[in-house]
Amino acid sequence: MSFRILLLGFGNVGHNLVSLIDSRRDLLKKDFGLELSVVGVGTRSKGTIYKESGLELGSLLRSENFTGRVDSASQSGFSVGLAVEDLLSDGEYDLLVETTPFQIESGQPAFSFLEKALKREKHVVTSNKGPIFHYFHEIRELAFSKGVKCLFEGTVMAGTPLFSFASECLCGCEIQSFEGVVNGTSNYILGLMSNGSGFDDALLEARRRGYAEPDPVLDVDGWDSAVKASIVAQAVMGASYIPFEEMEVKGIRSVSPRMFEEAQRFGGSVRLVAGVERDNGAFRIRVRPSVLPSNHPLHSVSGVTNGALFLTDTLGEVCVTGAGAGSRETAYAVLRDIITVWKRREQKR
Ligand SMILES: NC(=O)c1ccc[n+]([C@@H]2O[C@H](COP(=O)([O-])OP(=O)(O)OC[C@H]3O[C@@H](n4cnc5c(N)ncnc54)[C@H](OP(=O)(O)O)[C@@H]3O)[C@@H](O)[C@H]2O)c1
Repeated sequence: MSFRILLLGFGNVGHNLVSLIDSRRDLLKKDFGLELSVVGVGTRSKGTIYKESGLELGSLLRSENFTGRVDSASQSGFSVGLAVEDLLSDGEYDLLVETTPFQIESGQPAFSFLEKALKREKHVVTSNKGPIFHYFHEIRELAFSKGVKCLFEGTVMAGTPLFSFASECLCGCEIQSFEGVVNGTSNYILGLMSNGSGFDDALLEARRRGYAEPDPVLDVDGWDSAVKASIVAQAVMGASYIPFEEMEVKGIRSVSPRMFEEAQRFGGSVRLVAGVERDNGAFRIRVRPSVLPSNHPLHSVSGVTNGALFLTDTLGEVCVTGAGAGSRETAYAVLRDIITVWKRREQKR
C-alpha cells in the first residue's frame, strides 16, 4: 500500500521534490519500507492533474518541462481541470505537500489549504513560511486534535536541519535564546560590501547570480529574517504569535562603512542577525546588522550559507550551519519531513 501525496504548487520546490521522489524510489523502499505515490498536483495557472492510483512521475516531469503545464501528461485513468479546493476536499490522499508562494501579510490562501487537509485528518508538510508564521498554534492544535502531523522543516534554512535538530537533539533542554543568520541574500550582499562594494552594486550582483528576488525588500529590510525568527520562537521556544509591530527589525540598507571597518579591526564580520530572547516570561524578536567577533559561532557563516545558534541551559551554545537556500535543498527538507511523518504516522504526538 503506497503513501499517497497531494502536491500543491509545482514551481521550483514542487518540481524538485517530484524529481527527488522519482530518483530515490528504491532507497525509500529499502530503507524505510516507504512507497510514495503522487496522486495529484495542483497549481494556479499550470493546471491540475489527479490519478487515484498514482501519477507516472517521469512522464509528469517531462511533459511539464516541455509544455509548461502539469495537465499535459497523458496518463491512463487521470482527471484534469479539477479545482484545487476539490482536490483537497474530494481527493484520496494521505499527506498534503504545500509549496505555494509565501504571502507575508496573511499566510493565505496556504493556511486554508492546510486547514482543509488537517480537518480531513490528512498529514501536512509545507515549505511555506506564511501559514506557519501566522497560524502556528492553530495548526498545531488542529493537527493534534485530528491525530495527524504537520511538519515545516523547509521554511527556515532550506534543507539544513533546524526544527528536526531542535526537537530530536535538544529535547529536554530549555532553549534560552536563539540567534540566526537565516537570510542568504542579505548575507551574500554583506559579504560583497565587506570587500568594498556599495549596497546597490552588491544587490545587483546578488540579482545577477539569482540569489535575490526581483523584489528584494523582504530580504534586505529584514522581514524575511523576522518571520523565520518568529517561527523558531513559536515552534521551538514556546512563544505566542508576535505581530510585526512588536518586533524590532532593521535591514542591511543602512550598514555603514564604519561597521565593516570595526569588524575588520577585530578580524570579525558584519552579519544580519535574527534573535529571539526571553524577557521576563515574554519573548523579544530583534533583527539587525551586527558586528560579530572572530570567535562568534556565526562569524564563519558566509555567502548564502545559514547558521542557527541555540543557547541552552544544559549544553551551552549549540550551532548548526549549512545551505540556507535553494529549491533542491528545500525539496530535500520536504522529502525528509515526508519520511518523518511516515515513520511517526502511528504515534499520537
Ligand atoms: N525556492 C526556494 O529556494 C525556497 C526556499 C525555502 C522556502 N521556499 C518556499 O517554498 C514555497 C515554494 O517556493 P517555489 O520557489 O517553488 O515557488 P514558485 O516557483 O513560485 O512555485 C509556486 C507554485 O505554487 C503555485 N501556486 C501559486 N498560487 C497557487 C494557488 N493559489 N493554488 C495552487 N497553486 C498555487 C504556482 O502555480 P503557477 O505557476 O501556476 O503560478 C507554482 O506552481 C514558497 O512558499 C517559498 O517561499 C522556497
